[in-house]
Amino acid sequence: MPRLSQWLIRTAFIYLLLGFTFGALLLAHKGVPLHSALWGWLPAHIEFLLMGWIVQFTMGVAFWILPRYWKHPRRPNAIMAQIAFVLLNLGIWLVVLGTTFRAGQGVLLTGRIVEVCAIIFFVMHTWKRIVSREGV
Ligand code: HEM
Repeated sequence: MPRLSQWLIRTAFIYLLLGFTFGALLLAHKGVPLHSALWGWLPAHIEFLLMGWIVQFTMGVAFWILPRYWKHPRRPNAIMAQIAFVLLNLGIWLVVLGTTFRAGQGVLLTGRIVEVCAIIFFVMHTWKRIVSREGV
């Protein structure tokens, strides 16, 4: 498995842990009120699980498994996927800052734009690797 996939998948598991922890706390809070500020973490729960876990895990597996080229570089433009990894995680935390930490609509919007850029960079890397075994 390439190094970038290891980073993406390990990071995704950290978000899974965080997301489930906040989900479990929120669920418990519905039965036995724990802390009034807890509902503020609902957007973080959603962000961690949808973008941090599902999207990031998918990117990790896709980078690994999509057809490679037999000559070097086997995964051309890998830098684009590396940039996507950085942007995705930056975007996630900007969204959490803009929602849970109430840093403002500007921060939230910037976070969303950064996330979209992450997807664009990942697609730019991946597009040419969507080919059959024969390479067409
Ligand atoms: C991949 C897994 C998960 C995803 C993508 C996910 C996503 C979401 C989303 C989108 C919402 C907002 C729903 C809405 O506003 O209508 C939500 C709410 C919630 N989630 Fe999760 N969730 C996941 C797993 C979990 C787990 C494992 C738990 C508990 C252990 C949990 C507990 C909650 C609770 C308590 C709410 C608030 C429900 C309410 O509004 O009353 N979630 N989740």
